[in-house]
Amino acid sequence: MTQTLTFLGLESSCDDTAAAVVRSTPEGNEILSSVVAGQTELHAPFGGVVPEIAARAHAEKLDLCVEEALEQAGIGLDALDGIAVTAGPGLIGGVMSGVMCAKGLAAGAGLPLIGVNHLAGHALTPRLTDGLDFPYLMLLVSGGHCQFLIAKGPGDFTRLGGTIDDAPGEAFDKVAKLLALPQPGGPAVELEATKGDPKSISLPRPLLDRAGCDMSFSGLKTAVLRARDKIIAQHDGLPRAQRADLCASFQAAVADVLAEKSRRALQDYLAYAPKRPALAVAGGVAANKAIRASLETVCVEFDAEFLAPPLRLCTDNAAMIAYAGIERFRAGARDGMDLAARPRWPLDQTSPALLGSGKKGAKA
Ligand code: KG4
Ligand code: ZN
Repeated sequence: MTQTLTFLGLESSCDDTAAAVVRSTPEGNEILSSVVAGQTELHAPFGGVVPEIAARAHAEKLDLCVEEALEQAGIGLDALDGIAVTAGPGLIGGVMSGVMCAKGLAAGAGLPLIGVNHLAGHALTPRLTDGLDFPYLMLLVSGGHCQFLIAKGPGDFTRLGGTIDDAPGEAFDKVAKLLALPQPGGPAVELEATKGDPKSISLPRPLLDRAGCDMSFSGLKTAVLRARDKIIAQHDGLPRAQRADLCASFQAAVADVLAEKSRRALQDYLAYAPKRPALAVAGGVAANKAIRASLETVCVEFDAEFLAPPLRLCTDNAAMIAYAGIERFRAGARDGMDLAARPRWPLDQTSPALLGSGKKGAKA
């Protein structure tokens, strides 16, 4: 029988410092607390995440987040069965802060330590929230990640494809910047898009002419820049209506690419596991209603189950790390005081490396 386990998780690989307590019992999983301290204001003046500022902020906030997570969960360190921490991939200063904090806690409290791959945390979230059985298809789509994975086991993932340059959230953020919209760009572009016509401006659907599930979003952003400059030249400025049309057309292009590549990923998945598939999404971009709707349409075409965890668990958090730690612990994994922080750590060690990386640091 599955043993009841309670883990503290730590996350500090990018610009969110997070700590959470998760309990997993034979009846199901419970998030006892999930504390996330963002750093948006610290990085805002620089137009992107500054690794050194992020690392310092993590070092300052980690123990406070741990304290708060334990307090909210109503337990002390003595009630824990282990400590899980993101050991990569990510911005190395932040990952090191988290790993050092976790080592100190584990050594001090005499608890097992488990290093978790951040991407595995995202990829295992549908098991935390919905108890989804392996195997399933996963689309990670955020500001730093974009890849299709077949999740086969807690440490067993096959990558079917991913972005070769920018991640979609990164493209949303850059497009927002080009159009003088606020950051983070995703929600701002989505709001503008509701006022525009998605068919008004013709934009490319990159890499659809190429077989497989790899994607590219940086050319799309350049196409938006060119279209913007053409409008500015014609109108002597960027009228609001045209800006809305640009947002709607860009969002439609991203949605089309993700939908078509999801079809291909589902085909590849079915060749591996020919039963009713489940497609799960995670990452901030999964909050986009137009993108969600087009992925749901694809799932209807394939009679696939569509799972989108609540947004607070789609974006970076430590509950997913605590839970991934529990899964790894159950599978027999244990780490020692030599656990290393890794800037790069591909989930799938066998597939060839992707060419690109996201703005938020080195990715798998
Ligand atoms: O998962 P996340 O919080 O952080 C990582 O990148 O790891 O994702 C943040 C990204 C940002 O690029 C943001 O612009 C994008 O997700 N995003 C969206 C939306 N909400 C957030 N993109 C499109 N539409 C949205 N509604
Ligand atoms: Zn993430």
